[in-house]
Amino acid sequence: MSNPNVPTPHIQALEGEIAETILLPGDPLRAKYIADNFLEDVKQFNATRNMFGYTGTYKGKRVSVMGTGMGCPSIGIYSHELIHFYGCKNLIRVGTAGALSEKLKVRDMVFAMGACTTSNYVRLFGLPGDYSCIASYELLSKAVEEAKAKGLTYHVGNVLSSDMFYGPAKSVTGGMTWSDMGVLAVEMEAAALYSNAAAAGVNALCIVTISDSVVTGEATTAEERQTTFTNMMEVALSLA
Ligand code: HPA
Repeated sequence: MSNPNVPTPHIQALEGEIAETILLPGDPLRAKYIADNFLEDVKQFNATRNMFGYTGTYKGKRVSVMGTGMGCPSIGIYSHELIHFYGCKNLIRVGTAGALSEKLKVRDMVFAMGACTTSNYVRLFGLPGDYSCIASYELLSKAVEEAKAKGLTYHVGNVLSSDMFYGPAKSVTGGMTWSDMGVLAVEMEAAALYSNAAAAGVNALCIVTISDSVVTGEATTAEERQTTFTNMMEVALSLA
């Protein structure tokens, strides 16, 4: 029977065109880059709002990749539709983050075991307390095994999903800072992805590479951001 919910307002794919495992970069052109460089037998399934999405195979396994845009509301919309209307079960964000700790260097890989947030997104589920946004242990442990096997440098810990890219680096409350609490890096999407996945009983993981450092001011160029994250892609694709 055909699914009356597809196409959705934001995804023009037909039923069955999206794989159960999907990689989610923020930038739709990075989705195209991943499809062009890592996948075989690729078919584009979305161009609505230029949020390109593709399905193909990686080492014989069916996998999709699609952009999410930036911030919790944007990844919240796309991940909701992918889970509830297209049946996605493993959602893996592949993105960049700013280091909050001196221990992290530009280009290091971070597996977000948890995601703190300044966004209101998670509160909108209406829980009677603060929800801990956590990665799927299954995806996290597989990703860590793969990174170990490849001899890659990686960190596992908390990230901050911030609603402000151009926010104040220091504590604005006069209280503790995120780095005082051991939070490794700042990005803008993991908390929405993790909470959407939890509410639906599916698996999510956020993998980021460090593109800049809030601590040292070190940075990578936009071109490097699009093309030099091969290690992260290979770890993420190994989860298909
Ligand atoms: N802040 C938020 N998101 C980011 C950053 C940052 O400094 N760097 C890469 N993504």
